[in-house]
Amino acid sequence: MSNQDSLREVADGRAFDLGTAVDAAALRDDVSYRDTVRTEFNALTPENALKMGPLRPSLNTYDFTDADALVNFARANDMTVRGHTLVWHNQTPEWFQPWDYTDDQLRRFLREHVQTVVGRYRRSVGTWDVVNEAVADDGTMRETVWYDAMGEQYLDRAFEWANEVNPDADLYYNDYGADAVNEKSDAVYDLVERLLDRGVPLDGVGLQLHALGEWPDPDSVAENVRRFQALGLDVQVTEMDVAFPAGEEPDDALERQAEFYGDVLDACLDTGVDTLVTWGVDDARSWIRSFRDFSERYTGDPLLFDERNRPKPAYRAVREALST
Ligand code: XIL
Repeated sequence: MSNQDSLREVADGRAFDLGTAVDAAALRDDVSYRDTVRTEFNALTPENALKMGPLRPSLNTYDFTDADALVNFARANDMTVRGHTLVWHNQTPEWFQPWDYTDDQLRRFLREHVQTVVGRYRRSVGTWDVVNEAVADDGTMRETVWYDAMGEQYLDRAFEWANEVNPDADLYYNDYGADAVNEKSDAVYDLVERLLDRGVPLDGVGLQLHALGEWPDPDSVAENVRRFQALGLDVQVTEMDVAFPAGEEPDDALERQAEFYGDVLDACLDTGVDTLVTWGVDDARSWIRSFRDFSERYTGDPLLFDERNRPKPAYRAVREALST
């Protein structure tokens, strides 16, 4: 590695997928954002464009404009795409009022959605977060519209439908707070074990790794990864960002953040995790600055690039970890 090598070149050099969540409008409007995405990362996750809300202006229509733009950009720049996400309780369309539909209508709607979206990107999206955040914080199954209509079987069906349309895709269950060994990851572990026992075509588990306020212990992350791998599953880190509780950041916050990014990368490399995605490119556009009350709760500089797109200590730590 030379000092001139970008993060992407270092990642390419060891066949590691280093990804970032990409915003369609920023990609369209901001040249410097676009350049950072394509020179520094070799994998891309659409931050919102593949979610049901953005994709579905009405019951019987789709708007693929943003999703197509992101997928085409990835293809043109030889980046892999993580499709995020087919089945989730959040960011459903505004017109979608579940009580308007019978359980059977909801099931048919979901099937049509999953198969249409996976089918459209059969050749360009090789990995899908089929189901996102199905487990509640207390470890029970989250009572979502899909759970209410179909019970736990909604996961089985969603994976089967995706698999029917693209048998080659890697199909993931993705969740937050399940990064280290803890009660939530125990519940996720039990869930994916049940899915596997039922023969559901599940390939992997995505650990979001939003380290907001509390950061998981990297050794425990590694232990957690290993127990999922022991079930025969792949594991990826899918949405990493790192913030302190607001008002509590130490003087060396950026160095501490860098060290944590490096430690998580090391845990990935030690365990054979070959993909890590940061949830955004630069701090200015981090979801933490705009989502609910997060900007009051956490420091707003969780990513590898600062507001002016300059690489931070965390950038160098990730680069260093990937070079050794
Ligand atoms: C977030 C996006 O970053 C925001 O732009 C949007 O307003 C809300 O969703 N877990 C997930 C992601 O799986 O899809 C979420 O993304 C962050 C939490």
